Amino acid sequence: MPYEDSPNYVDETPGTKFYCSCGESKNKPYCDGSHDRLKTGKSPTQCVIETAKRYGICDCGTTKNPPFCDGSHTKKA
Ligand code: FES
Repeated sequence: MPYEDSPNYVDETPGTKFYCSCGESKNKPYCDGSHDRLKTGKSPTQCVIETAKRYGICDCGTTKNPPFCDGSHTKKA
């Protein structure tokens, strides 16, 4: 899967968001339906953003706090 070893930073606005968790989206950090088309067995992470600010969205697939980056990409082997 085309996960990356760094988060995607996005200046987010309040609202319900669907973030890619499969690594295949062409519109990261958002889900574009690729998980279904490619039958990854994954589904997007739904999240309600309440505060407008910059967020680091996990793109390595190992965060323990999805959809947000928790630094786990620095610990990947
Ligand atoms: S495209 Fe990755 S979860 Fe939907």
